[in-house]
Order: sequence, then structure tokens, then C-alpha cells
Amino acid sequence: MTAVPLSCDRVSAGYGRKRVLHEVSVAATAGRVLAVLGHNGAGKTTLLRTLAGLMRPQAGQVSCAGGSTAAALRSGFTTYVPAERFVYPDLTVEENLLLATPARARAEAPERMARAFGYYPVLAERRRVTAGLFSGGQQRMLSIGMALMRAPSVLLLDEPSLGLAPAIQDQLFASVRRLADEESLAVVLVEQNVTKALGVADEAVVIRSGRTVHRGPARDLGGLDRTQWWELF
Ligand SMILES: Nc1ncnc2c1ncn2[C@@H]1O[C@H](COP(=O)(O)OP(=O)(O)O)[C@@H](O)[C@H]1O
Ligand SMILES: [Mg+2]
Repeated sequence: MTAVPLSCDRVSAGYGRKRVLHEVSVAATAGRVLAVLGHNGAGKTTLLRTLAGLMRPQAGQVSCAGGSTAAALRSGFTTYVPAERFVYPDLTVEENLLLATPARARAEAPERMARAFGYYPVLAERRRVTAGLFSGGQQRMLSIGMALMRAPSVLLLDEPSLGLAPAIQDQLFASVRRLADEESLAVVLVEQNVTKALGVADEAVVIRSGRTVHRGPARDLGGLDRTQWWELF
């Protein structure tokens, strides 16, 4: 049996009276990457926010092995890395990573930091440099590193490759795969970069106008030609 630390069942969610997601069901599995694909405005970020416990579903259930979604977010069981890179620009890499570490886990900070550096060696090289001087890709790596300092079971990533150069994107996608394989993280990867996301994902769901229009093994989608893609999206 594979562990499913976070899942949702027929979840509908939105803003005020506006319903954005309609009965979406997904499961995040330990050691696996779930790609969530779809056009701009499809509801991908809304789904991540709902899974993270930042939004309450209007209908349906979110089930989390770390307690309520809010408690899981607080404890670091679930971590959410939003599309807007968030780092403290005036602080160094080390200071950013320490600030992201829960107080109760301070003793484990050096070990966790070393692990994060293993995925993003550039952060180790620049550990005493202030984050504001970093490239977009390095800031993105730092924001994922900050999530890792919480020793999560679930990592929710919103468009990590957005605005990055192709070579940096490749490094990032490779690190996402390793995080699932080596840390047994359950990763939910929201992406516009369909080909690269499918390259590292195990499963994929496609959301169109807030509804799931496809789900299945990532490799099935990798085989679609352009016309089939357009029909699906
Ligand atoms: N804070 C908000 N208030 C009202 N509507 C929102 C808000 N955030 C997103 N939306 C709307 O919800 C829909 C889905 O948005 P979003 O989940 O961000 O899509 P995606 O991440 O797939 O681009 C869009 O129509 C968007 O305009
Ligand atoms: Mg979005």
C-alpha cells in the first residue's frame, strides 16, 4: 500500500459566489509526482490553495494524514510554494533557511540545510550572500529549500519553472523528481510547461474550466500529438 498523505474528493471551491473548481478529486502519493496541467485560469492555483488549507472547499472533502489542512500547513506536514517567488531579499541564504525552520526543529536545522544544499548546490556556494542579489532561478531554488526546512511530507509547487531559462528549468524539474524519489515526498506540481512536467511526473491531471478532463499515467499524455493536446486542453 502506498501512502496518500493528502487527497481531495469531489472538491468544489471558489471566491465568494464565484465557483472556480467543480468536483475535482486528486491524490498526492508518497514518492510520486502528480502534474496538474491546464490553461491559465483553469483553477490550478485554486486547487493548490485548497489542498494547502488556505481556502475552504465549498463542497467536497480534503483528507490529510497530518490532521486538518490548516494544522498540517502550520506543522510543516504540508508545504506550499506559491508561484510568486518568496524569499527575504535582505537576508542571506542561511538566514532565509533558518527563518523557515520551525522553532521546535532548530536542532535539526544544520542537517536539513545540508540536505537542501544537496539538491541545490548553488545555495551552498552562496550561503552568505543576500537573496535579493540572486537570479530568478536561484530565488526559486531557495524558496523550495525553505519549504524543505520544514521536513514536509507533501510539497505543493505552483509553476516552479515560470520565467526561468530552459537550463535552469531542467535543473529544477530534475530536483523535483529527486525530492520524490529520495525524500519520499508527495509532490503536486502545477505547471504550464507541459512537456517538462510530464517528463518528471508519475501521474497527470488536466483541468479545464475547473473540471478534471483527464487523469492518468503521465506517460500516456507524453505520447499525444499536438492536435490531441489541443482537444484535451
Ligand atoms: N482571489 C481571487 N478572487 C476572485 N477570483 C479569483 C481569485 N483568484 C483567482 N480567481 C479566478 O479563479 C479562476 C481560476 O484561477 P486560478 O486558480 O488562479 O487559475 P490557474 O492557476 O489555473 O491559472 C480565474 O478565473 C481567476 O480569475
Ligand atoms: Mg495559477
